[in-house]
Amino acid sequence: MNKVNPTHTKAWANLSKLAKDNEQTTIKSLFANPDRFDDYSIQLEDILLDYSKNRINDTIKTSLFDLANEVDLKSAIEAMFSGEKINLTENRAVLHTALRNRSNTPVDFEGQNVMPDINAVLDQMKAFADQIQNGTWLGYTGKPIKSLVNIGIGGSDLGPVMVTEALKPYQKKGLEIYFVSNVDGTHIAETLNKVDPETTLFFIASKTFTTQETMTNAHSARNWFLEAAKDENAVAKHFVALSTNAKSVAEFGIDTKNMFAFWDWVGGRYSLWSAIGLPIACAIGFENFEKLLAGAHSMDKHFRTADFEKNVPVILALIGIWNTNFLGATSEAILPYDQYLHRFAAYFQQGNMESNGKYVSRAGEKVNYATGPIIWGEPGTNGQHAFYQLIHQGTHLIPCDFIAPANSHNPIGDHHVKLLSNFFAQTEALMNGKTFEEVLSEMQKAGKSNEEIEKIANHRVFEGNRPTNSILVKEINPYTLGQLIAMYEHKIFVQGVIWNILSFDQWGVELGKVLANAILPELQDNKQVTSHDSSTNGLINAFKKMRK
Ligand code: F6P
Repeated sequence: MNKVNPTHTKAWANLSKLAKDNEQTTIKSLFANPDRFDDYSIQLEDILLDYSKNRINDTIKTSLFDLANEVDLKSAIEAMFSGEKINLTENRAVLHTALRNRSNTPVDFEGQNVMPDINAVLDQMKAFADQIQNGTWLGYTGKPIKSLVNIGIGGSDLGPVMVTEALKPYQKKGLEIYFVSNVDGTHIAETLNKVDPETTLFFIASKTFTTQETMTNAHSARNWFLEAAKDENAVAKHFVALSTNAKSVAEFGIDTKNMFAFWDWVGGRYSLWSAIGLPIACAIGFENFEKLLAGAHSMDKHFRTADFEKNVPVILALIGIWNTNFLGATSEAILPYDQYLHRFAAYFQQGNMESNGKYVSRAGEKVNYATGPIIWGEPGTNGQHAFYQLIHQGTHLIPCDFIAPANSHNPIGDHHVKLLSNFFAQTEALMNGKTFEEVLSEMQKAGKSNEEIEKIANHRVFEGNRPTNSILVKEINPYTLGQLIAMYEHKIFVQGVIWNILSFDQWGVELGKVLANAILPELQDNKQVTSHDSSTNGLINAFKKMRK
């Protein structure tokens, strides 16, 4: 991967000028082109991306592609897919795409094809998930498993949570799935209250098998289980490990037969495709898990081979760069009009912010331009009654991705058309806004007095011109969900390449972990603490006093 400062490219200079020249151009005015929808949308299998409601025209679009070419995006894509160690600071390859390589073409890493190892773990996952699904994996008293509890955090939690929620209609009836991530004892306690040790299976999901939260929760779960089972041999029937660290798995007391392996070249936030996906496979069945992989693989092929002009992740990434670096947006909202996707934005908070929340360039220098935006969002229509006010009339520019399925898994009455009418209305309103003249005529027609109009009219004006992407999907199923997740993963990758940062490490989460480990022993006695600044000392000492 090269180390090109994007602001030193010709395209960046052009784009800066274009941003100034087009300051007064509205999205609405760009629709004078009757073909704009056709020119600014892409149909990819059952997914339609409409990016026409952005503040871009053909010249801007061309310059954005020039930017991608000037930083040699094509080579970076190849470097990732072909197993180069593009995660420089950890000296690792980034091969989550191999995990879902359903074509089974060889993928070489350090001179060896990784596909046989991947396929062997997939076979092991299938055999296990089938037993959970058909009720032949029995607990220590001979009963089938009814409750699945995943204990993990970050990438070892969010992917399986998001996907099992998104694919709830595919979940086997009679099986419940729970996720424990927080080290707050409430999380494990409340979960254990709901399950029965005789019929519960715990997945201890941790790439490193050292993460404080996960290991603490895992030990508490094990103690709880042994209080009931009173037999260490019973652990094997109720605990499995999803990890890269066989040694620590064995030390914890899980038989490595019950370990599902993955590898260093799988980043935590890109790991749902690996053994970390086992709870997904157990909940929705292995065939559906394979469809999820197939959807992602199809997006991988598209991303790797399609021209940038027709490449969905590349286009989304370039629009994001335009909004962030040339229009000054600092956040992006992901707004799914699908209740099942209620953790989708949370998932990509980690996916995006842990990947691209970096200010040091690949050359090791502090960047002088904006990198990863703040990612947030909630499902529509709930968000409309909460934070959309600010998107419509606030002082921040917030580009939004609207996502909706054309078909609902719960086609009750007219719910879905009502939901979708809101989906279409919002992007229209965000683009068009409402002028003072429109407000005036509306109020006059409603018989309002001049005094009232003067008092209220300005507050009812919407500037509009808020950029949005609309992503319409035929149905949210394992395949299309796989496509959507891979689409956003690749968007993040492209942006990291252009911003000249390293998207696959996460040093920014280390400092807090180290300090917490240093503070922990200080909380375990009654001595006055003086080793920190006065605020931290004051807070710790107040905590000690308040503690019962
Ligand atoms: O929060 C930092 C992080 O390292 C994430 O990248 C990762 O997904 C999470 O912690 C959990 O790590 P592990 O799977 O090793 O327990």
